[in-house]
Amino acid sequence: MAAGWLKNAVFYEIYPQSFYDSNGDGIGDIPGITEKLDAICSLGCNALWINPCFDSPFKDAGYDVRDYKKVAPRYGTNEDLMLLFHTAHKKGIRVLLDLVPGHTSEEHPWFRESCKAEKTPYDNRYIWTDNWFRGATGLNYVGGEAERSGTYVLNFFKCQPALNYGFLRTQEPWQLPCDHPDCIATREAMKDIMRFWLDRGCDGFRVDMAASLVKFDDEKNTATSAIWRNIREMLDRDYPEAVLVAEWGDPPLALSCGFDMDFYLNGWKNGYSTLLRDYEGQEEDNSFFRAKAPARNIRRFLDTYEEWYRLTRDKGYISLITCNHDTLRPRYSLTYRELKLAYAYLFTMPGVPFLYYGDEIGMRYLNLPTKEGGYSRTGSRSPMQWGNGKNLGFSTADPELLYLPVDPAEDAPTVQAQEKDPDSLLQTVKSILHLRHSLEDLQADSEYETLCDSPYVYRRGQLILAVNPSLEETEVKIDLNGRQPIFRIGTVLTSSSGFRLEAQSFAVFQ
Ligand code: GLC
Ligand code: CA
Repeated sequence: MAAGWLKNAVFYEIYPQSFYDSNGDGIGDIPGITEKLDAICSLGCNALWINPCFDSPFKDAGYDVRDYKKVAPRYGTNEDLMLLFHTAHKKGIRVLLDLVPGHTSEEHPWFRESCKAEKTPYDNRYIWTDNWFRGATGLNYVGGEAERSGTYVLNFFKCQPALNYGFLRTQEPWQLPCDHPDCIATREAMKDIMRFWLDRGCDGFRVDMAASLVKFDDEKNTATSAIWRNIREMLDRDYPEAVLVAEWGDPPLALSCGFDMDFYLNGWKNGYSTLLRDYEGQEEDNSFFRAKAPARNIRRFLDTYEEWYRLTRDKGYISLITCNHDTLRPRYSLTYRELKLAYAYLFTMPGVPFLYYGDEIGMRYLNLPTKEGGYSRTGSRSPMQWGNGKNLGFSTADPELLYLPVDPAEDAPTVQAQEKDPDSLLQTVKSILHLRHSLEDLQADSEYETLCDSPYVYRRGQLILAVNPSLEETEVKIDLNGRQPIFRIGTVLTSSSGFRLEAQSFAVFQ
């Protein structure tokens, strides 16, 4: 069972280099996050996920960790991070760090040691074949880079050698079983890193590529699952309040391994992107919330969602996201009005929602050259737009020193401008999150049921909710049993036989 504090949690994802620069060097930092905690509170978020903020050569924006126990100097010090935990806790905000257990940077001291020709205690910390001439069949590997005679396996980019948790079935002499002491040592090293930060006040971890521990023949993830269950045992025993959210994209599996939450992720096949980003991999944009979607159909999302919801109901939570640091921002294809409806939906669903910084004001996806291994993801990682001043309030540095440029558009949305506008996206986000916090029926645990697919009507506990993303008015014949609208976007009229939803509207009936 997931930690109790998640029932009412709403997460805010922070890309630290782009959030707020407190010392004017052009790059966001940890003290900058601490300074902005009140803004996050006033938004209605009460938990953070901070992307990797550890020492790194930054060839994959910090997902290539060189020292798991040291805050990257560009973001501050370990003391700054502990002060962030402490200040956040006083304001009722929990903080998750990003744990990267599948690989390290090629500059990590463990890897440097394992590259040596002579024997070292780290010989098996990574996956090496036994000869420079032998590759690791079925896996990505690198040869010719080290003194050691062997090739090593990669987990993502070339700069990210795969940590060795062993193999489910050992077919080659260089493949170790998962219960080999050196593979267990890798798992224990990860636990040690988790303990290090939990002891210093962090509340848990978002786990990067959580399915990637045991490589190759672990298709059903049985071996990887066993490792996570072992890690969960430690948490249950020593840190019962600590939570783990997986980057797995398979909530039934991830939750059965002891994760509290897993994201509904990844592409158009399993349905999540059909809500907001249907154009990825498709010719036509049929995103559910797009007013002009030619073939709108909530089923493409619900078919997977309902099944996962049923399977995970008493085990933990499915996390819906506005987007993240790897995807296009929803503003890429949706208008403000469409975004209001989309967020109203995401934040009234069961589970624990995640809002990516800047999506609350509808920040654009920018066309930017790649930065630190971001490639097409870079456009979703530009600096937060706080106000109308220099660098849109992100930093006092010269614009050419910024980590990434700010949105140059004249109408670039900012927090300051939207604070003043009662009709802004920011105000809508605040009122929905406020509503979510004030009604238990809208929180993580309360029951969900689909009442009608088209128009889309659903139930949360005793509440009835409906959304009409289209440009046509629609009539819904459902007995409201005297319920009245307590929250609306657009016009909603109740009648004796049900209610009418005007074009692009949303309502909550109580
Ligand atoms: C995850 C991260 C992504 C990173 C990759 C490798 O997918 O979200 O940003 O590049 O893992 O660590
Ligand atoms: Ca800075």
